[in-house]
Amino acid sequence: MNSRSAGGSLTPEGTRGGAATTLLLAVAVAVTAACAQVAPGPTSAPATSAPSGQSVRVPDVIWVPSDVAVVMKMLEMAQVKPGDVVYDLGSGDGRIVILAAQKFGARGVGVDLNGDLVQQSRENAVKAGVADRVTFLQQDLFLTDLSEATVVTLYLFPDVNRRLMPKLRRELRPGSRIVSHDYDLGDWPPEKTVEVALPDRAHYVYFWRIAP
Ligand SMILES: C[S@@+](CC[C@H](N)C(=O)[O-])C[C@H]1O[C@@H](n2cnc3c(N)ncnc32)[C@H](O)[C@@H]1O
Repeated sequence: MNSRSAGGSLTPEGTRGGAATTLLLAVAVAVTAACAQVAPGPTSAPATSAPSGQSVRVPDVIWVPSDVAVVMKMLEMAQVKPGDVVYDLGSGDGRIVILAAQKFGARGVGVDLNGDLVQQSRENAVKAGVADRVTFLQQDLFLTDLSEATVVTLYLFPDVNRRLMPKLRRELRPGSRIVSHDYDLGDWPPEKTVEVALPDRAHYVYFWRIAP
Protein backbone atom coordinates (compact mmCIF):
# COMPACT_ATOMS: atom_id res chain seq x y z
CA MET A 1 0.00 0.00 0.00
CA ASN A 2 1.20 3.45 -0.91
CA SER A 3 2.09 5.26 2.27
CA ARG A 4 1.51 8.74 0.81
CA SER A 5 -1.97 10.23 0.51
CA ALA A 6 -2.99 12.26 -2.52
CA GLY A 7 -2.01 15.47 -0.78
CA GLY A 8 1.49 14.14 -0.21
CA SER A 9 1.16 13.95 3.57
CA LEU A 10 2.34 10.79 5.32
CA THR A 11 -0.12 8.12 6.39
CA PRO A 12 0.31 6.75 9.95
CA GLU A 13 2.34 3.83 8.49
CA GLY A 14 4.48 6.32 6.60
CA THR A 15 4.88 8.39 9.71
CA ARG A 16 6.09 5.36 11.69
CA GLY A 17 8.51 4.56 8.85
CA GLY A 18 9.69 8.19 8.90
CA ALA A 19 10.19 8.06 12.65
CA ALA A 20 12.20 4.88 12.31
CA THR A 21 14.31 6.47 9.57
CA THR A 22 14.85 9.55 11.72
CA LEU A 23 15.87 7.35 14.65
CA LEU A 24 18.30 5.40 12.47
CA LEU A 25 19.78 8.63 11.16
CA ALA A 26 20.18 9.97 14.68
CA VAL A 27 21.96 6.78 15.75
CA ALA A 28 24.21 6.93 12.69
CA VAL A 29 25.11 10.56 13.41
CA ALA A 30 25.81 9.76 17.07
CA VAL A 31 28.03 6.77 16.17
CA THR A 32 29.90 8.82 13.58
CA ALA A 33 30.46 11.60 16.11
CA ALA A 34 31.68 9.10 18.73
CA CYS A 35 34.08 7.50 16.24
CA ALA A 36 35.41 10.92 15.22
CA GLN A 37 36.21 11.63 18.86
CA VAL A 38 38.28 8.51 19.40
CA ALA A 39 39.87 8.21 15.97
CA PRO A 40 43.57 9.04 15.98
CA GLY A 41 44.38 12.04 13.82
CA PRO A 42 47.41 13.14 11.83
CA THR A 43 49.88 15.67 13.21
CA SER A 44 48.46 18.74 11.58
CA ALA A 45 44.90 17.48 11.27
CA PRO A 46 42.82 20.24 9.69
CA ALA A 47 39.86 18.76 11.57
CA THR A 48 41.35 19.97 14.84
CA SER A 49 42.28 23.45 13.71
CA ALA A 50 40.09 26.39 14.59
CA PRO A 51 40.11 30.15 14.03
CA SER A 52 42.70 31.99 16.08
CA GLY A 53 41.69 32.54 19.68
CA GLN A 54 39.42 29.52 19.87
CA SER A 55 40.20 26.20 21.46
CA VAL A 56 38.90 23.18 19.54
CA ARG A 57 38.03 21.65 22.90
CA VAL A 58 38.58 22.57 26.51
CA PRO A 59 42.33 22.28 27.27
CA ASP A 60 43.34 19.64 29.81
CA VAL A 61 45.50 22.18 31.68
CA ILE A 62 45.46 25.96 31.92
CA TRP A 63 48.41 28.02 30.72
CA VAL A 64 51.10 28.59 33.34
CA PRO A 65 54.49 29.38 31.76
CA SER A 66 57.62 27.62 32.93
CA ASP A 67 60.22 29.98 34.32
CA VAL A 68 63.13 30.41 31.89
CA ALA A 69 65.50 28.91 34.49
CA VAL A 70 63.38 25.75 34.53
CA VAL A 71 63.21 25.68 30.73
CA MET A 72 67.00 25.89 30.49
CA LYS A 73 67.36 23.04 32.98
CA MET A 74 64.86 20.93 30.99
CA LEU A 75 66.76 21.46 27.75
CA GLU A 76 70.15 20.82 29.41
CA MET A 77 68.92 17.61 31.03
CA ALA A 78 67.59 16.43 27.67
CA GLN A 79 71.01 17.26 26.17
CA VAL A 80 69.36 19.12 23.30
CA LYS A 81 71.73 19.71 20.40
CA PRO A 82 71.63 20.66 16.71
CA GLY A 83 69.82 17.91 14.84
CA ASP A 84 67.27 17.38 17.62
CA VAL A 85 63.57 17.97 17.04
CA VAL A 86 61.98 19.20 20.26
CA TYR A 87 58.21 18.83 20.69
CA ASP A 88 56.59 20.80 23.49
CA LEU A 89 53.15 19.30 24.13
CA GLY A 90 51.03 22.17 25.40
CA SER A 91 53.45 24.86 24.26
CA GLY A 92 51.88 28.00 25.75
CA ASP A 93 53.72 31.09 24.47
CA GLY A 94 56.30 28.90 22.71
CA ARG A 95 59.21 29.62 25.03
CA ILE A 96 60.54 26.05 25.26
CA VAL A 97 60.85 25.37 21.53
CA ILE A 98 62.05 28.94 20.89
CA LEU A 99 64.85 28.56 23.46
CA ALA A 100 65.66 25.09 22.11
CA ALA A 101 66.22 26.65 18.69
CA GLN A 102 67.89 29.84 19.89
CA LYS A 103 70.26 28.46 22.55
CA PHE A 104 70.74 24.82 21.49
CA GLY A 105 70.44 24.96 17.68
CA ALA A 106 67.56 22.47 17.54
CA ARG A 107 64.36 22.50 15.51
CA GLY A 108 61.12 22.69 17.42
CA VAL A 109 57.41 22.03 17.20
CA GLY A 110 54.97 23.49 19.69
CA VAL A 111 51.43 22.16 20.01
CA ASP A 112 48.66 23.97 21.84
CA LEU A 113 44.86 24.02 21.69
CA ASN A 114 44.71 27.73 22.39
CA GLY A 115 44.79 29.72 19.15
CA ASP A 116 45.83 32.98 20.83
CA LEU A 117 48.86 31.27 22.36
CA VAL A 118 49.77 29.66 19.04
CA GLN A 119 49.62 33.07 17.34
CA GLN A 120 51.66 34.65 20.15
CA SER A 121 54.24 31.85 19.84
CA ARG A 122 54.64 32.50 16.12
CA GLU A 123 55.21 36.20 16.82
CA ASN A 124 57.67 35.39 19.59
CA ALA A 125 59.58 33.10 17.22
CA VAL A 126 59.88 35.91 14.67
CA LYS A 127 61.15 38.30 17.38
CA ALA A 128 63.66 35.68 18.54
CA GLY A 129 64.90 35.16 14.97
CA VAL A 130 64.10 31.44 14.87
CA ALA A 131 60.87 31.41 12.85
CA ASP A 132 62.54 29.28 10.18
CA ARG A 133 63.31 26.51 12.70
CA VAL A 134 60.15 26.30 14.78
CA THR A 135 56.54 25.45 13.97
CA PHE A 136 53.46 25.99 16.09
CA LEU A 137 50.34 23.91 15.56
CA GLN A 138 46.92 24.51 17.03
CA GLN A 139 45.85 21.00 17.83
CA ASP A 140 45.26 18.45 20.54
CA LEU A 141 48.49 16.99 21.90
CA PHE A 142 46.76 13.60 22.20
CA LEU A 143 46.23 13.61 18.41
CA THR A 144 49.74 14.75 17.55
CA ASP A 145 52.06 12.38 15.69
CA LEU A 146 55.26 12.23 17.76
CA SER A 147 57.30 9.98 15.49
CA GLU A 148 59.54 12.86 14.32
CA ALA A 149 60.39 14.04 17.86
CA THR A 150 63.76 13.28 19.43
CA VAL A 151 62.94 15.27 22.58
CA VAL A 152 59.52 15.83 24.18
CA THR A 153 58.95 18.46 26.84
CA LEU A 154 55.95 18.59 29.16
CA TYR A 155 54.47 20.92 31.71
CA LEU A 156 51.00 19.46 32.11
CA PHE A 157 49.36 17.73 35.06
CA PRO A 158 49.74 14.31 36.74
CA ASP A 159 46.66 12.65 35.26
CA VAL A 160 47.36 14.12 31.80
CA ASN A 161 50.94 12.80 31.93
CA ARG A 162 49.65 9.37 32.88
CA ARG A 163 47.18 9.32 30.00
CA LEU A 164 49.97 10.43 27.68
CA MET A 165 52.54 7.85 28.78
CA PRO A 166 51.40 4.97 26.51
CA LYS A 167 51.47 7.29 23.49
CA LEU A 168 55.01 8.44 24.33
CA ARG A 169 56.18 4.84 24.67
CA ARG A 170 54.42 3.81 21.46
CA GLU A 171 55.43 6.67 19.16
CA LEU A 172 58.86 7.88 20.27
CA ARG A 173 61.88 6.26 18.68
CA PRO A 174 64.60 4.51 20.73
CA GLY A 175 66.98 7.02 22.27
CA SER A 176 64.40 9.85 22.38
CA ARG A 177 64.30 11.84 25.59
CA ILE A 178 61.41 13.20 27.65
CA VAL A 179 61.61 15.94 30.25
CA SER A 180 58.73 17.06 32.42
CA HIS A 181 58.39 20.10 34.64
CA ASP A 182 57.03 19.24 38.10
CA TYR A 183 55.07 16.07 37.26
CA ASP A 184 56.29 12.53 36.75
CA LEU A 185 54.88 9.82 34.50
CA GLY A 186 53.12 7.72 37.11
CA ASP A 187 54.67 4.27 37.46
CA TRP A 188 57.41 4.92 34.88
CA PRO A 189 60.36 5.89 37.13
CA PRO A 190 62.48 8.77 35.81
CA GLU A 191 66.16 8.21 35.08
CA LYS A 192 67.00 11.52 36.76
CA THR A 193 65.25 14.19 38.85
CA VAL A 194 66.66 17.67 39.45
CA GLU A 195 65.38 20.39 41.73
CA VAL A 196 65.39 23.99 40.53
CA ALA A 197 65.07 26.33 43.51
CA LEU A 198 63.27 29.51 42.55
CA PRO A 199 62.02 32.34 44.80
CA ASP A 200 58.40 31.11 44.52
CA ARG A 201 59.08 27.45 45.36
CA ALA A 202 61.14 24.41 44.46
CA HIS A 203 60.48 23.19 40.92
CA TYR A 204 61.37 19.70 39.70
CA VAL A 205 62.49 18.42 36.32
CA TYR A 206 62.13 14.72 35.52
CA PHE A 207 64.06 12.95 32.76
CA TRP A 208 63.33 9.72 30.85
CA ARG A 209 64.92 8.09 27.83
CA ILE A 210 63.27 5.61 25.47
CA ALA A 211 65.43 2.51 25.66
CA PRO A 212 67.76 2.23 22.64
C1 LIG B 1 51.06 24.67 32.04
S1 LIG B 1 51.02 25.28 30.37
C2 LIG B 1 52.69 24.97 29.84
C3 LIG B 1 53.19 25.90 28.74
C4 LIG B 1 54.63 25.63 28.27
N1 LIG B 1 54.85 24.24 27.94
C5 LIG B 1 55.60 26.03 29.33
O1 LIG B 1 56.11 25.15 30.03
O2 LIG B 1 55.83 27.25 29.48
C6 LIG B 1 50.04 24.01 29.57
C7 LIG B 1 49.60 24.34 28.15
O3 LIG B 1 48.98 23.19 27.60
C8 LIG B 1 47.92 23.59 26.75
N2 LIG B 1 47.03 22.42 26.62
C9 LIG B 1 46.26 21.86 27.58
N3 LIG B 1 45.64 20.76 27.12
C10 LIG B 1 46.06 20.60 25.84
C11 LIG B 1 45.78 19.62 24.83
N4 LIG B 1 44.98 18.59 25.05
N5 LIG B 1 46.38 19.76 23.63
C12 LIG B 1 47.21 20.81 23.39
N6 LIG B 1 47.49 21.77 24.31
C13 LIG B 1 46.92 21.66 25.51
C14 LIG B 1 47.33 24.78 27.45
O4 LIG B 1 46.61 25.61 26.55
C15 LIG B 1 48.59 25.46 28.02
O5 LIG B 1 49.08 26.44 27.15
